[in-house]
Amino acid sequence: MCGIVGYVGAADAPSQRPLEVVLEGLRRLEYRGYDSAGVALVAPGAERVASRKKAGKLANLVEAISLDPLPDATAAIGHTRWATHGGPTDANAHPHLADGGRLAVIHNGIVENFAILRDELLADGVQFHSETDTEVAGHLLAKAYRETGDLASAIRDTARRLEGTFTLLAVHADEPSTVVGARHDSPLVVGLGDGENFLGSDVAAFVSHTREALELGQDEVVTITPDAVVVTDFAGRVVEPKRYTVDWDASSAEKGGFRTYMDKEIHDQPQAVAETLLGRTDAAGRLQLDELRIEESVLRAVDKIVVVACGTAAYAGHVAKYAIEHWCRIPVEVELAHEFRYRDPVVNEKTLVVAITQSGETMDTLMAVRHAQEQGAKVLSIVNTHGSTIPRESDAVLYTHAGPEIAVASTKAFLAQITATYLLGLYLAQVRGNKFPDEIAEELADLRAMPNKIQTVLDRGDHVRVIARWMNSDSVLFLGRHVGYPVALEGALKLKELAYIHAEGFAAGELKHGPIALVEPGQPVFVIVPSPRGRDSLHSKVISNIQEIRARGARTLVIAEDGDEDVKPYADEVFWVPEAPTLLSPLLSVVPLQIFACELATARGLDVDQPRNLAKSVTVE
Ligand code: F6R
Repeated sequence: MCGIVGYVGAADAPSQRPLEVVLEGLRRLEYRGYDSAGVALVAPGAERVASRKKAGKLANLVEAISLDPLPDATAAIGHTRWATHGGPTDANAHPHLADGGRLAVIHNGIVENFAILRDELLADGVQFHSETDTEVAGHLLAKAYRETGDLASAIRDTARRLEGTFTLLAVHADEPSTVVGARHDSPLVVGLGDGENFLGSDVAAFVSHTREALELGQDEVVTITPDAVVVTDFAGRVVEPKRYTVDWDASSAEKGGFRTYMDKEIHDQPQAVAETLLGRTDAAGRLQLDELRIEESVLRAVDKIVVVACGTAAYAGHVAKYAIEHWCRIPVEVELAHEFRYRDPVVNEKTLVVAITQSGETMDTLMAVRHAQEQGAKVLSIVNTHGSTIPRESDAVLYTHAGPEIAVASTKAFLAQITATYLLGLYLAQVRGNKFPDEIAEELADLRAMPNKIQTVLDRGDHVRVIARWMNSDSVLFLGRHVGYPVALEGALKLKELAYIHAEGFAAGELKHGPIALVEPGQPVFVIVPSPRGRDSLHSKVISNIQEIRARGARTLVIAEDGDEDVKPYADEVFWVPEAPTLLSPLLSVVPLQIFACELATARGLDVDQPRNLAKSVTVE
């Protein structure tokens, strides 16, 4: 939530590069929030910071700059906002200036004690120009700078006074070759260049310039100059940050010929699943999850698994529940992370808490992780974004290898998350002896066949697109049983997010307990039909559910396995998917639903990559 970029380059040669780097970084981070955007630049000899900011998308800022160009500079910071305190106006856009326009600050997070601090500053005679909590940080920083004359110590003093969550970046006209940053419960990574250095909310901000990065820890302050990066804790003690190389290049964060990132990411899914499976077996074919630093004896002692996650990631957890319980006979609970920590959950040393998160930064999930650890539970996180906070705080991590997911609504990360939970389930079954090695090998072979099958579903996408373009209903229902239930929930979520249509997912068995009252003639209902080769009676129960809604005039849009003749008499449309074991089938059945939501929203002229009111990484509670 909110994207921030910092850059410092050639100390003695001001140019347009700082502005260009920061604008490009903001373009890549815009998925984190698009209520407003702004930049601030410093150059040697300039009395003040040069700044420009605009409500609305980045394009508005770019246009404002082209009409009224900014001067050459040596360092710059930039911000793209998801509004929390104060509406999305020019005045509330970041950067916020202080010290008579000599200092600029940008912020991601929420300063919870801002009211007290604001009163204190008002009493000192400070004038405020926005409704944001950030401006408080700016004025505090200016005050600390006047006292210390050093930007890094000033930001440390300021950070110690702030409560809540924050990443702050600042520049000052007196230090034109320096950008400082501070982080507490909010993301910030460093990009290492040659004679230039970068800061970003995530590596997308600078990966087109460098793939060498530093991970910052909690409560750390970083100072970048053209030739150095210094990291300290809030007390000023120097710390050694962890260096890593980003394993994807800038082109994987581009649209690659597709109309939208969402379209591209839906088509990336065979690869996302294949990459997540890659390299996770040893020469003997046994599952080997190197990153899982939890001892096997601890995994053998686990008596309950609790999955914590939000939104789409939580639906991946729902799928995991069916698979892990079936394979390992361990009870699995799935809990929305924001509910988990507030209800005094029963977790202890024998509980394995699995946190699923694409961004690795979701504040609700982070808080659930911390709460679980306080209760003595071990936390294993399933994460897509390297260098993020949740894997660093977890006891173990299993990375999904979906590559950068830029579209705000999740697609390929969902499939990669489900895949990772299958790996986890099979690994637990291996460690705990629930399955013989050849049974695990068989399941893995089925899993490895999934990328090609997902490709087949994508190749059949035109049928879904045609139906989506002609859909004129403002309400769509989704039904599924067993693993089809979380798929129904995810199908409904995608449609709400992308097309702003009322959509609801139900467990098909729940239909007669209420939701069937919603069905009237013409009501479109997607039904996810399980394999006819699967569990006894599951298939026939869902066929009965289709009949029940059809009898009441519903328009039935059915997702069924190739060759399932039973669905034909009751389906207005059938979207066929290849045969697959029931537990793995969500990797296929969700794909037509993603295509449907994406196409319907596109046909209605909506921005599928950046739906209204949303941001990719929800770093506030
Ligand atoms: C929906 C979507 C969200 C995220 C949720 C968790 O399309 O993207 O529901 O799944 O905000 O985000 P992460 O996975 O980053 O923790």
